[in-house]
Amino acid sequence: MGNINNKKLYIESYGCAMNFADSEVVATIMADNGYTTVNSEHDADIVFINTCSIRDNAEQKIRHRLTGLKGTKRKNKDLVVGILGCMAERLKDQLIEEEKLVDIVVGPDAYRDLPSLVAEVDGGSKAVNVLLSLEETYGEITPTRLHSNGVTAFISIMRGCDNMCSFCVVPFTRGRERSRDPQTIVEEATDLFNKGYKEVTLLGQNVDSYLWYGGGPKKEFKKLSQEEKDSSVDFAKLLDMVAKVDPTLRIRFSTSHPKDIVDDVLHVMAKHKNICNYIHLPAQSGNSRILDKMNRTYDRKWYKTKVERIRDIIPNCSISCDIIAGFCTETEEEHQDTLSLMEWSDFDFSYMYYYSERPGTLAARKYSDDVPLEVKKRRLTEIITLQNNMSARKNKEREGTVVTVLIEGKSKRSDDDFMGKCDENISTIFPRENYKVGQYVDVLIERSTSNSIMGKALGLNEYFEKETLEKALVS
Ligand code: SAH
Ligand code: SF4
Ligand code: F3S
Repeated sequence: MGNINNKKLYIESYGCAMNFADSEVVATIMADNGYTTVNSEHDADIVFINTCSIRDNAEQKIRHRLTGLKGTKRKNKDLVVGILGCMAERLKDQLIEEEKLVDIVVGPDAYRDLPSLVAEVDGGSKAVNVLLSLEETYGEITPTRLHSNGVTAFISIMRGCDNMCSFCVVPFTRGRERSRDPQTIVEEATDLFNKGYKEVTLLGQNVDSYLWYGGGPKKEFKKLSQEEKDSSVDFAKLLDMVAKVDPTLRIRFSTSHPKDIVDDVLHVMAKHKNICNYIHLPAQSGNSRILDKMNRTYDRKWYKTKVERIRDIIPNCSISCDIIAGFCTETEEEHQDTLSLMEWSDFDFSYMYYYSERPGTLAARKYSDDVPLEVKKRRLTEIITLQNNMSARKNKEREGTVVTVLIEGKSKRSDDDFMGKCDENISTIFPRENYKVGQYVDVLIERSTSNSIMGKALGLNEYFEKETLEKALVS
């Protein structure tokens, strides 16, 4: 532990927030073995690329990046290159055969093994560990925050996924679902708060199925002993526990699966002012036949009921969505169902893709990828156009209202402006004046576009900055 070997590590991450959170765990594991993280591959002895396999173009991007890395390796013959994450898990040793510059291939559950894999490479061989685990959560490891703004941070609450949506590679790359000890989650949130962080996002592929009853692989709730049931913590309880770390620590979470989100969670959200009014609730499609083929285990009606429950219990809650255009056998009418569900749901924003067949998935094995590429692209364009129009309209409706914003840093466009998210997770931009990063301010919205709202700060938010305001009055 803590031995100094003066070696330098550069980590680059792709894919979802969970991959970025994992890279921070990797940085800690490596730091404990004497590696310092640096910001450029040119200063590094080791380069780790944490990869994503979700769509074919995600993998192409990484292949391209590896080609670029060849030049760096030419200059530094001793450079060690490691491929981490989902693409490593999916392709295993094949990656070493195909990409000659790769020395290490390591899957998402094998990061504790990284220091010994690096030692193997230093001994002149290539090293692979892609074992998946039923229990690994890296629970007690405090992540080293990389590229942090010092205000917002991710906390992984679970790993893997048991859902087997037919289009999705994640269950194959990240293994079975398991939940992390809630005590370690609360400790991580407390530690972040004590270090000055103001917002945490709890991460899992399906946060609503979070369930802790003492560790070990996931079991069905009904098969638990009475003792395990009594001491169990579900997602609603976990949210409540994290919200109580401090009333001024903002809480977000992602992703909610429509089949699992329950009223208890919505009530906890409504109860705590510091849990944001925002839910990411991917529908994927608006047509029940397609949803069945996707193995999402809910239909259009069920999805609509969930949206209604959210709107009933948390007025003003914003909702975002993921949509896949042109899944196997999707007809024009079925595509229209997706558009109409989006309109009905009035999503604040969405992440939208066309279907990309992933080798080994249920859909790849059972269905033919028969919607022509140009049809997929045209449907996707219609979906994006609809969402952009809805987002623009919804943001326009925010003009004249006052939103609470946590300041994350300077705006990309101008050093004179600050950027932060409002409670409903919309990027908000306003002149800096004398405000500081990490403060909560009330912003009067004056202008908007489809992806951001702009205005003027009226002052510190009374609820979140109560202590600051009190201190100011005393002095
Ligand atoms: N666990 C989350 C999703 C994680 S993947 C959930 O269940 O909602 C993020 C998004 O990528 C998915 O919601 C889906 O919209 C998209 N996606 C996954 N596999 C895909 C594929 N094969 N082709 C296109 N988009 C895909
Ligand atoms: Fe993939 Fe479905 Fe799991 Fe999400 S819930 S990660 S889409 S299998
Ligand atoms: Fe990609 Fe793996 Fe996340 S496939 S989206 S990095 S879980």
